[in-house]
Amino acid sequence: MTTVDPGPARRSTETKACCATAYSSDAVAMLLGESYHPGGLRLTRRLTSRLALRKDGPVLDVACGRGASALAIAAEHGCPVSGVDLSQANIAAAAEAASAVEGEFDFRVGDAEALPFADGAFAAVVCECALCTFPDKATAAREFARVIAPGGRLGITDVTADRDRLPPELTGLGAWIACVADARPLSEYTRILRLAGFGILTTEHHDDAIRKMLSQIEARLQLVEMTAPDRAEVLGLDFGAAPGVLKAARRAIDDGILGYGLIVAERVDTGE
Ligand SMILES: C[S@@+](CC[C@H](N)C(=O)[O-])C[C@H]1O[C@@H](n2cnc3c(N)ncnc32)[C@H](O)[C@@H]1O
Repeated sequence: MTTVDPGPARRSTETKACCATAYSSDAVAMLLGESYHPGGLRLTRRLTSRLALRKDGPVLDVACGRGASALAIAAEHGCPVSGVDLSQANIAAAAEAASAVEGEFDFRVGDAEALPFADGAFAAVVCECALCTFPDKATAAREFARVIAPGGRLGITDVTADRDRLPPELTGLGAWIACVADARPLSEYTRILRLAGFGILTTEHHDDAIRKMLSQIEARLQLVEMTAPDRAEVLGLDFGAAPGVLKAARRAIDDGILGYGLIVAERVDTGE
């Protein structure tokens, strides 16, 4: 039997849907905790401290997951915060969490490559551990630039990878969803952002954050395996494959193939 390639547009839609579904699952919530990115809210604070946030400057969190960063930004900076994510379940969870705290929130289902917001609507945009999964990164970067007012800032933390040197355990759809297979080196993210109309203010390497996240995932997997092995099937976890993938990921970090990075950029005022 021959399989027909559905074409790049359909493949991209399927990949995005798969990613959103995976990040809506209880297994991911159990393995990752409240923040779905290496470094957790500590790294979010480091990022947002460089965005010159003001009380009257609305902030957008692109691919906000269940809203942990959005809620923290509103609590710490007092600004209105919007969140957008492809996963309906994540947006529902974020809206529910927001209804229990003080602050001005607006959570919407939407695609980072076609943001459902007006031009220049935000003083700042954050995007954590998600640009790596967007199939069309250049379009997403142009969307970030479109919705940020001139002079506003963009804060990104993301998985970095030298794709040509990734081991086979870290490619394929599962690895894409796990933010690895289509991650790029920090220098390529900054190139994409410059082309979209940003000036780069800061770049930092935080590879230890991804190392710590792998240890947390490993510990939580071991706990489930020891205490509730029957939950593995319910959660869709593959205990057999996990050690090989974790080992390959650690070796890739040691070899400088895989890491985690932070970028702060400023939307250049083109005078338009
Ligand atoms: C690794 S999680 C990060 C979530 C959140 N930023 C955090 O750090 O806790 C990736 C998120 O990106 C969302 N996502 C994936 N592709 C997307 C897209 N094209 N547009 C909007 N959200 C997307 C997923 O649903 C998921 O919630």
